[in-house]
Amino acid sequence: MQTHQYDVVIVGAGGAGMRAALEASKEARTAVISKLYPTRSHTGAAQGGMAAALANVEDDNWEWHTFDTVKGGDYLVDQDAAEILAKEAIDSVLDLERMGLPFNRTPEGRIDQRRFGGHTRDHGQAAVRRACYAADRTGHMILQTLYQNCVKQDVEFFNEFYVLDLLTDHDLTTEELEDGAEVNATGVVAYDLASGEIHVFQAKAIIFATGGAGKIFKTTSNAHTLTGDGMALAYRRGLPLEDMEFFQFHPTGLAGLGILLSEAARGEGGILRNSDGERFMERYAPTIKDLAPRDIVARSMANEVREGRGAGPNKDYVLLDLTHLEPAHIDAKLPDITEFARTYLGIEPYTEPVPVFPTAHYAMGGVPTNVSGEVLRDGHNVVKGLYAAGEVACVSVHGSNRLGTNSLLDINVFGKRSGRSAAAYAKTVAQHLDLPENPAARVEAQLAEMRDRPDGDRVADVRKALQETMDANAQVFRTADSLNQALSDIRELQQRYRNVSVQDKGKLFNTDLLEAIELGFLLDIAEVTVVAALNRKESRGGHYREDFPNRDDANYMLHTMAYRRPTAAPDVAEGHVEGYFDHVESFDDYKVVLGSKTVTQTRYEPMERKY
Ligand code: FUM
Repeated sequence: MQTHQYDVVIVGAGGAGMRAALEASKEARTAVISKLYPTRSHTGAAQGGMAAALANVEDDNWEWHTFDTVKGGDYLVDQDAAEILAKEAIDSVLDLERMGLPFNRTPEGRIDQRRFGGHTRDHGQAAVRRACYAADRTGHMILQTLYQNCVKQDVEFFNEFYVLDLLTDHDLTTEELEDGAEVNATGVVAYDLASGEIHVFQAKAIIFATGGAGKIFKTTSNAHTLTGDGMALAYRRGLPLEDMEFFQFHPTGLAGLGILLSEAARGEGGILRNSDGERFMERYAPTIKDLAPRDIVARSMANEVREGRGAGPNKDYVLLDLTHLEPAHIDAKLPDITEFARTYLGIEPYTEPVPVFPTAHYAMGGVPTNVSGEVLRDGHNVVKGLYAAGEVACVSVHGSNRLGTNSLLDINVFGKRSGRSAAAYAKTVAQHLDLPENPAARVEAQLAEMRDRPDGDRVADVRKALQETMDANAQVFRTADSLNQALSDIRELQQRYRNVSVQDKGKLFNTDLLEAIELGFLLDIAEVTVVAALNRKESRGGHYREDFPNRDDANYMLHTMAYRRPTAAPDVAEGHVEGYFDHVESFDDYKVVLGSKTVTQTRYEPMERKY
């Protein structure tokens, strides 16, 4: 086992992690640990743009952006955080421009902007051009720009290191802590893929920037690496997960494959049509039509298919029509996604509409934080020295439905804020806190058990069954019956997981072993997603319950906080959580306990969403 000491350790080298690193490393000795090479992080797959009310091409302001974000999130957004997001968006884009990001330009040489779903002028009157972009590879450009700047700034990277445990000075799963009691994060334990060696990183401040968990679903735009690691590690150490029932299904995945076709296609004029050739979004969102927020568009598409107006031999998708756009415009603005349609479906977008269907895209929920990125251990107490930013976190700027282009923004605004806060905090800590006596014990035991099992279920089989039940039962439309089916399938798969075995027993580059560990994370995240979805008996944003089709502000204008506790622990969420749903799902040796947290409302009274 090797040990390292840093002031700040950042877990994850996507946009949020590297933006945090650029800030933290100015002030503090900083390391970034990533299970990938940084430029392979999933930020690189983000396509259409990054929102900021620059008003470069038409009238706009940050207040409209805040309003759209709050309304888009079906009023479950914490409005103080949304205001920060929209205000700081402008500097975030300019920061990237100064770092060298090649944004598309207007003829006058300003950063160009395009339309995107749910972004409007005058509080919903018409779609506004707010997304700054680099063709349809904006995330790729952001990732490369941030990485180049990290290299320039001598940030230290530990690549292909899998963080498998979080170390704290209290066991939050079992200890009864007073309100205000101090809990500190002290380090992380990582596994080096190349050597199979364990490394312990002692740190004054730790930032989780590990991304999302889209691989709980079969049809997803997410990379294979999006296995919810940071969320699951925090959850296993007794920290809550917030609003996990809200998962976003991006309307335009390539049908049958889930590969992302950017919403920018509709921002540039693309139109969704059913098998009759009808522009059906005119019925569902008469004002902004195809540029309604994603939850509404995805549900409308699924509804068209359900009601028999789907296209294709099985009537199971709708069509994205770009055929009225000039080929030169398509080539200039949408080069990658049109190539995806050609490569993966054999469709020529100049002349043929592209088959599309919703694909699991983004977790609105995650590890709860305040606006400085500090992680909460309940409704309001923070864990000292622990921060989270990006998709792993829930601040909550996205509420129950994120607007497109607000995630590249989120990683920049809250990545920067977390990096700054973590470095500032680290400077106040004179000495590293002690680590537990054998800090790697849990990880070593877990790896040894997994590696030493002689025979058992295959990881790929269990993962496939998990993804299939999540697609069938916890997707765009949900009911108590479908969610209970998903939960019972997950329980069975958790039993099977106890017997999965790996074929590769070696030490070097053992991806077989790590996929088995990642499957454990996926099962935890799927379980908490479904339990929270069962509990929320209303429809809001990305969570649509056919058995409770209306939004119910009287009972559910609250964030869900899910805790994992041993079965023997008391049956309520922490006493100092502000109110709780009081729902408990007990399994063998642990249970999921649901509590709640107040939604912060500042400027905007909740009202019915109409587009
Ligand atoms: O459609 C897209 O380009 C995706 C953007 C986003 O998720 O923000």
